[in-house]
Amino acid sequence: MSAQLIDGNALSAHLRTDVAKRAAALKTRGTTPGLAVVLVGENPASQVYVRNKVKACEAGGLHSVLEHYPATLSEADLLARVDALNQDAGIHGILVQLPLPAHMDAQKVIEAIDPAKDVDGFHVASAGALMVGQPGFWPCTPYGCMKMLESIGYDLRGKHAVVIGRSNIVGKPMALMLLQLDATVTVCHSRTANLKALTLQADLIVAAVGKRNVLTADMVKPGAVVLDVGMNRNDEGKLCGDVDFAGVSEVASHITPVPGGVGPMTITMLLVNTLEAAERAAG
Ligand code: GUN
Repeated sequence: MSAQLIDGNALSAHLRTDVAKRAAALKTRGTTPGLAVVLVGENPASQVYVRNKVKACEAGGLHSVLEHYPATLSEADLLARVDALNQDAGIHGILVQLPLPAHMDAQKVIEAIDPAKDVDGFHVASAGALMVGQPGFWPCTPYGCMKMLESIGYDLRGKHAVVIGRSNIVGKPMALMLLQLDATVTVCHSRTANLKALTLQADLIVAAVGKRNVLTADMVKPGAVVLDVGMNRNDEGKLCGDVDFAGVSEVASHITPVPGGVGPMTITMLLVNTLEAAERAAG
């Protein structure tokens, strides 16, 4: 392997130390940053995610509450809970874990969150702020990717970045963040014709599709930086990303592993956003 690893665990530890310091400073001024995590239903993956989010808050000196409701909760009752959390001065960030049960309109629920507490960055007001370059909360996963690039001193100006995936949570906001730092951005997706011809031109590739081996060594220009947002299982049941790590790490200059890459950064940026929300509320 010739590529340098971008270690998401190490970078997270560094950033979380800073979060803990800032949280302690805010506490001395009478404000404990607080995050409310709302989970509806029994999705096993979601249960693991929310538990990790709550644990990370505690470790960082943030207050967190987990509200777990049965899948039978009505949308009206969930909206009422979101409204109560909007009014709660001890809560600075609200996260409604997705996916929600099928009888709920997830976007409607997200729009009910006060944008000042939208630490997931999923509200249309947050998406709009990112689009026009105004202050707002950035979605945690692409924000974490930006921090990883910053950690290796990567200058995006004039670079060609190829984002594979166009989700509202990762692909689209990722493209906007890269554009804001003067990269030339190509967004690819399932209907893109000749993906390889595009990725071969890329200085930076972000793979965010949710499918194994979307990016293989023959698709990568030597020296490119590769960020792997994927979270999949291989045939042996082991966690793997969207990138053929063994092959691509022979060609890339820098690469993120799975696990231990972008994954831990997502929760770290949630803590950063929650702290930021609390600092803004405290004035
Ligand atoms: N489900 C999977 N990832 C996320 C996330 O980052 N935020 C929320 N709210 N739900 C998710």
